[in-house]
Amino acid sequence: MQTLRRVAVIAGGALLLITGLNMDAGAASKSSIAITPPMGWNSWNHFGDKVTEADVRAAADALVSTGMRDAGYIYVNIDDGWQGKRDNNGYIRPNSRFHDMKALADYVHSKGLKFGLYSSPGPQTCAGYEGSLGHEMQDAQTYAEWGVDYLKYDLCTLGATVGTYGPKSKEISYQQSVKMMRQAYETMNRAIIASGRPMVFSFCQYGFGSSWKWAASDGANLWRTTGDIRDDYRRMLNIGFSQDGLEGYAGPGHWNDPDMLEIGNGHMTHEEYVSHMSLWAILAAPLLAGNDLSTMSEDTRNILTNREVIAVDQDPAGIQGHRVWAEGTMEIWAKQLADGSTAIGIFNQGDWIASIPFDPHQIGYRGKVGLRDLWQHKDLGTRSGKFEILVPIHGVALLRIKGIG
Ligand code: GLA
Repeated sequence: MQTLRRVAVIAGGALLLITGLNMDAGAASKSSIAITPPMGWNSWNHFGDKVTEADVRAAADALVSTGMRDAGYIYVNIDDGWQGKRDNNGYIRPNSRFHDMKALADYVHSKGLKFGLYSSPGPQTCAGYEGSLGHEMQDAQTYAEWGVDYLKYDLCTLGATVGTYGPKSKEISYQQSVKMMRQAYETMNRAIIASGRPMVFSFCQYGFGSSWKWAASDGANLWRTTGDIRDDYRRMLNIGFSQDGLEGYAGPGHWNDPDMLEIGNGHMTHEEYVSHMSLWAILAAPLLAGNDLSTMSEDTRNILTNREVIAVDQDPAGIQGHRVWAEGTMEIWAKQLADGSTAIGIFNQGDWIASIPFDPHQIGYRGKVGLRDLWQHKDLGTRSGKFEILVPIHGVALLRIKGIG
């Protein structure tokens, strides 16, 4: 069992962070991974289950050539659709779109990147491919031999068996259902530990059973908190803004996961994608790009690689942000940072440009504050007390605020 206590206080503008971490020997081997929210690329949001080995190699190449790797995006994660059948001894093999997983992992590693795969605790994955049920030890061993560094484990068909959805959900009590689901994830956690290869372990069961309350102690480095994201501004915002209240559960090594990025997939405007990136950074969310990296526009690349925004997401204190104020179509969110400054996201969901008021007193600053705009890369000078900022339609002002006396 892992227990975690964290106390974060702002004292005179300086952040004090006190973390106490006790864990058993099994969990200890995982203690140095995902210290900041994982960053990388995942195949699902753009390629779906038709992803090929060539797509994955192209993504790895692009992570390097576009500067994304150097900005922190290091995981190359293949989602659903790589699995073939099991061999006569029950070992999983890739399908015909992937001829040699070990060679692919070696290629990814040769670029200074890490390699991730996807499976399900059920008999089948969500897209109908082979799941891990009954083969957990074999699968973890196979992943370790291939060189897997990250496993996303997606509830899918197990939900029908344990009653989180489907006909059995009427027969099995809620508590029993959560218990059975947790056991399935614990089985794979033990298998990963037994494989001897550290892997980031990503629980994907859409927040069922309030996963944020127990997933970390069951071995998760991140856990989905909601259903699937779509490349849609309202869906993205609904997911992001629903994370308020979960901030106490996240921290170094264990993160709430509001799902992967849709930036660059084509169905949001520039300002909407900027809002997406800003909100995920304030949430200390995993940053897994979900677009086709080899054809992305300069604008998409600039959004994904903004170092000042990434620094908010990857801040070493690992404190997830929360809502400070909301009125009509305006929301203000704040994330405390390790150096005592605070990142503020001022969001405008309205269909007109808005002048949005903000008072640093709302987040505990008393005297004068210095402001920096993280999208314009510009210092905005100092303010004493309340000020207003113009925020574009469906856009955001992402500021870093520092107390200066
Ligand atoms: C579920 C997950 C998605 C993706 C698909 C793959 O819907 O939530 O992130 O992995 O399955 O089938």
